[in-house]
Amino acid sequence: MQPLTTDEIRQAYLDFFKKNGHAIIPGASLIPENDPTVLFTTAGMHPLVPYILGEPHPAGKRLCDVQRCIRTQDIDDVGDSSHLTMFEMLGNWSLGDYFKEGAITMSFEFLTEVLGIPLSHLAVTCFEGDKDAPKDMESANIWMKVGLPEERIGFLPKTKNWWGPAGATGPCGPDTEMFYWVGPTELPPAGSNPATDEKHWLEIWNDVLIQYNKTEKGTFVELPQKTIDTGMGLERVAAVLQGVPTVYDTDRMKPILDHVLKLSPRERILDDHAMESGILRHARIIVDHVKAATFLIGDGIKPGNVDQGYVLRRIIRRAIRSARQLQIPTTGECTPVLAEAVIREYGHVYGYLKTKEKEICDTLSAEERQFGKTLAEGLKHFERVAKESPKIMSGENAFHLYDTYGFPMELTEELAAERGLHVDEAGYKKAFEEHQKLSRAGAEKRFAGGLADHSGETTKLHTATHLLNAALRKILGNHVWQKGSNITAERLRFDFSHESKMTPEQIKQVEELVNWAIEKDFPIWYHITTVEGAKKENAIGVFDDRYQAEVKVYVVGDKEVTFSKEICGGPHVARTGMLGSFTIQKEESSSSGIRRIKAVVAGGPGEIEVAGEA
Ligand code: ALA
Repeated sequence: MQPLTTDEIRQAYLDFFKKNGHAIIPGASLIPENDPTVLFTTAGMHPLVPYILGEPHPAGKRLCDVQRCIRTQDIDDVGDSSHLTMFEMLGNWSLGDYFKEGAITMSFEFLTEVLGIPLSHLAVTCFEGDKDAPKDMESANIWMKVGLPEERIGFLPKTKNWWGPAGATGPCGPDTEMFYWVGPTELPPAGSNPATDEKHWLEIWNDVLIQYNKTEKGTFVELPQKTIDTGMGLERVAAVLQGVPTVYDTDRMKPILDHVLKLSPRERILDDHAMESGILRHARIIVDHVKAATFLIGDGIKPGNVDQGYVLRRIIRRAIRSARQLQIPTTGECTPVLAEAVIREYGHVYGYLKTKEKEICDTLSAEERQFGKTLAEGLKHFERVAKESPKIMSGENAFHLYDTYGFPMELTEELAAERGLHVDEAGYKKAFEEHQKLSRAGAEKRFAGGLADHSGETTKLHTATHLLNAALRKILGNHVWQKGSNITAERLRFDFSHESKMTPEQIKQVEELVNWAIEKDFPIWYHITTVEGAKKENAIGVFDDRYQAEVKVYVVGDKEVTFSKEICGGPHVARTGMLGSFTIQKEESSSSGIRRIKAVVAGGPGEIEVAGEA
């Protein structure tokens, strides 16, 4: 029998959970909406946080999806057998419906019966228990009941087998992770499991069992409504089922890898020593990074100097550096050609990649050419530095070449060797580590919350965003559509389509209209309807493929006035009066044809009430 393809696994997963009563919902963008705490969607659970925290989901209590994810923490591991910057996560959720028994039974059935993974190659881990919560024997017992031998169940501490809470307090709980045997022997030895022999077990799936509420006192109390959140790595499962040694050798990744190798004149020396010489690793890095860049540009990110744009730029540059190491020409064609290869493998599943193919390739081409210029500048800088100090290049200078001009250390060393110049490698490493420490400190701050902040302040600002959107359409016209939204606890930022700079008069009118709606203290309710139904009742929305069949429509208004009607997941405040007052702080250009407004609210109550179902 042919092993399952990546497409078949993805489909089998959705089919299986649909058969088990789950609604299939569409995956979200790689760029989180209204969530300033993270740069990227890192798990399927991410866009579902409000529902995991108790907000009702329009599609019901059992959900499943395929979510594209970006994780940059593992970027230095990319190119090994199992780490990817961008990957697809298959997930299923129970929002107060089934719990451990249902989740584990379905996971086991899917792995062994649908995918046909032999029991002999499976193992799991459960939470070992500590002062906060007991050892999770409940999960272990269910695993044994469905047929897993006791010796294949390992117990691990909170650092490994626990999720949450998202902030300082809130829902959290143990998890149970599933692993596949990748050790040197055909079968795992007696007693082997991921707790005793971590290296030889590959994690493929994680069932998070959200069971407790962490209180302000730091205690963990049982939640009345328990939640399941699971995530399976599609590429890893494909590698396992297809019997290939790495995720890059699976059916959808291999053609891209082959394409990279074909472009390289070094392909002919690709033999058993290729890995040692780093060729294969560079090729895999190129595959991973171009794929991530393709999806990121597809989700609307452009290379830039801050936030997601900066990460995208680094990823593209890293890909180009690796391409140069393989002597692949990088004058503007390398990354676009490979993006086309990516789109050939994924465009049938992610249709927008096809629609945006030209934009993706043009963006990559421009960035590649720009980077070429930067490298040329770097070369000039190199010559200057070499002239000033012809014997030794300081670590700081080598790092400057790396950081500002994108020179990999190998390149600097090569150029230095040609001129009989010695590079202070230790100094370079030190400068590099210093820099990493700084950027990590920044990243950690960024990830500190980990997940969306659904405090009263952000809820107010989210509601203010709806009022602003409606007011802009009333004052400027119905060509205004939301193009982006980002909310922190301090301010809202709203991007919308509009060609010209707003006049001071228009800004004033919009601000006054929002404040009028706040003074009216309109009630806010939502109802659940289909996307078609929402269109018919003239609700505004983005209307791309992001919506599931059933959506929530939030209405702001009373019997006489409908001030705003918009498709949205929520949550929102229950009455506009809770916003206090609204001030626009800034109106500026965001990009061509798109304006950006930053605004604040002030003076509302500290405690808010959340809008309910009509
Ligand atoms: N949210 C869980 C994870 O990322 C499933 O592992």
